[in-house]
Amino acid sequence: MAVQDTSGIFDHAVEVLRENDRGTYTVPTKGLYPFQWNWDSCLTALGQSHVDEARAWTEIETLFEHQWPDGMVPHIVFHVFDDGYFPGPNVWNTGRPTPTSGITQPAVAGFAVRRLFDRAKDKALATERALRLLPKIDLWHRWFYQNRDPKGEGLVAILHPWESGRDNSIDWDQAFERVPTEGIEPYTRRDTQHADPAHRPTKAQYDRYVYLVELFRGLGWDNTQLHDASPFQVVDPGFNAILIRACADLADLAEQLGETAIAEANRERAERGLLALETLWSDEHSQYRCRDRVSGTLVESHSLGGLLPAFAAIPQARAAAIARTVERHAQTARFLVPSHDPSDPRFEQKRYWRGPVWLVTNYMVADGLFAAGEREIANRIVQSSLELIQESGFAEYYDPLTGEPCGGGRFTWTAAMVIEFLDQAARR
Ligand code: DGY
Repeated sequence: MAVQDTSGIFDHAVEVLRENDRGTYTVPTKGLYPFQWNWDSCLTALGQSHVDEARAWTEIETLFEHQWPDGMVPHIVFHVFDDGYFPGPNVWNTGRPTPTSGITQPAVAGFAVRRLFDRAKDKALATERALRLLPKIDLWHRWFYQNRDPKGEGLVAILHPWESGRDNSIDWDQAFERVPTEGIEPYTRRDTQHADPAHRPTKAQYDRYVYLVELFRGLGWDNTQLHDASPFQVVDPGFNAILIRACADLADLAEQLGETAIAEANRERAERGLLALETLWSDEHSQYRCRDRVSGTLVESHSLGGLLPAFAAIPQARAAAIARTVERHAQTARFLVPSHDPSDPRFEQKRYWRGPVWLVTNYMVADGLFAAGEREIANRIVQSSLELIQESGFAEYYDPLTGEPCGGGRFTWTAAMVIEFLDQAARR
């Protein structure tokens, strides 16, 4: 199907962004996610910048106003009261002036800020706003390597699946076996009241999500203790690749703006990270794999997390191999890029991150594959994304076999990515 009437899609995407705009931050979607989420906001700013550059900078600034003193940037900021989401501020109990969660999310801010700056029409505004954000993002990057890479391996671990953004990926199943569920406080899920339970994580997974939150809360959210105390420590290639790309982008931007110390520190982080990422490569899988840091083993899983490193400056041969893996998925999936290999028996076409297509990850994989010269498959990913919008609207995610919309509706970051895809298509 060829995508026509792109101006209609653009206008509709802008309408979705406006609908979810709360003035200084944007909610991912009404009902299901009524607060500010970390990586949602940074990617949303990219879409907003095509309509209002100042508003886009504000989106990221608002997030960083809630950075913790140690440098961590939380995954949720609970700006206003809303009892429609679990776990709410009382469960996290992080003691922040404006309540926040106590874990973080993929570090897309460095990438987003550089992209906002590079294409800014108002360079004076962009320079002023970027200069204010640079030290804060640098502090967050430093926090990652200090607290999540205590042995200096060059790669950071996530301590909770929610940190990866790919909440219920098959990648976490093995490590989750060692996360107990006994003794957790009784709770009522709210997500399944807003979205089809068959599209969401299972109860067994939720119990473990809650266990980890309660464990970390019991340690007073002291980031110097959480890594070693957590039974869940996973080195996710996708998460690391996003951080590596963000470090490299922040380094470039800092250099342009004369902030040499920030540039050097981030260049060094990116270079070390890229070298260490090699230890996660699997020729057999033709992609990267997660490492379970507690057991020391590589995880047997062909997930999108192992394709996302295309977003960082990985060796050309690795990017080419990832491109071939995505092409292989295209033999089974009508829409790219499924979040798990559709030929794996564990693949579930509608269940959140165990199979569905997400436009944000499409954007990152396509961006990396374009940069690596893999234009044909990158163009197919963009085309697939726009076809999904035309067929199924601005959903949270999509069934890769049928294109059916899943999860929440009228989703902010989906709309933002559509605006980005349309802009890129117009430039090409
Ligand atoms: C959810 O509620 O499912 C989120 O992904 C965690 O923030």
